Amino acid sequence: MVSAQLAVHSEWEGIYVIETLIEAGRSSVDGSKAKILPATWRDLRAVVALEKVCFGRDSWPWPEVLAALTFPGTVRLKAEIDGRLVGFVIGDRRGRRDLAWVASIGVHPDYRRHGLGRRLLAACERKLGSHRVRLSLRKTNEAALELYLQAGYSRVDIWPKYYRDGEDAIVMERIVTS
Ligand SMILES: CC(C)(COP(=O)(O)OP(=O)(O)OC[C@H]1O[C@@H](n2cnc3c(N)ncnc32)[C@H](O)[C@@H]1OP(=O)(O)O)[C@@H](O)C(=O)NCCC(=O)NCCS
Repeated sequence: MVSAQLAVHSEWEGIYVIETLIEAGRSSVDGSKAKILPATWRDLRAVVALEKVCFGRDSWPWPEVLAALTFPGTVRLKAEIDGRLVGFVIGDRRGRRDLAWVASIGVHPDYRRHGLGRRLLAACERKLGSHRVRLSLRKTNEAALELYLQAGYSRVDIWPKYYRDGEDAIVMERIVTS
């Protein structure tokens, strides 16, 4: 079993935060141990770091992450295993009761395919409490496409050349019945 944790304590604008980077052998991962919890501004460093790992060139700049972690009307949840942040999801009601958006979802590569993406998505939908939920993804993002199809989303639109490199976005929607 390979498992190591590096915790970096740093000061950020007067606030002490803990950034946790995780290296874990895939075989040692027990996804069922993950707790899905509300995320707050205290998770800023860890969420920014995980966003970078998950999205690279598409990752949000930190002020956008901070906004997502603090703005009213936003749903922010994290997946934690033994106190380590291994996944997150951001949902946005955009001032409407009938339609909400899942704005971002990511799971650390070492913890993928253990059901965390599915659990985070379902928990976000519940918290959003909207009748319709939409999200967008890169046309070539097969992992996300499979996750969303399995969760009951269907394609409703294409945004041509939505991403900076010219790739199209697929827009998907789920009607939440329960
Ligand atoms: C997309 C992502 C969040 C999925 O997280 P995850 O924790 O691995 O997902 P789960 O383990 O809950 O998978 C649920 C289902 O999605 C599908 N799925 C997930 N990853 C997949 C992959 N790489 N290939 C094919 N299907 C996949 C499977 O149907 C899976 O069910 P199964 O494992 O029982 O077969 C994760 O791959 C990720 O963080 N990717 C980078 C960020 C990203 O692209 N986010 C989405 C932006 S729109």
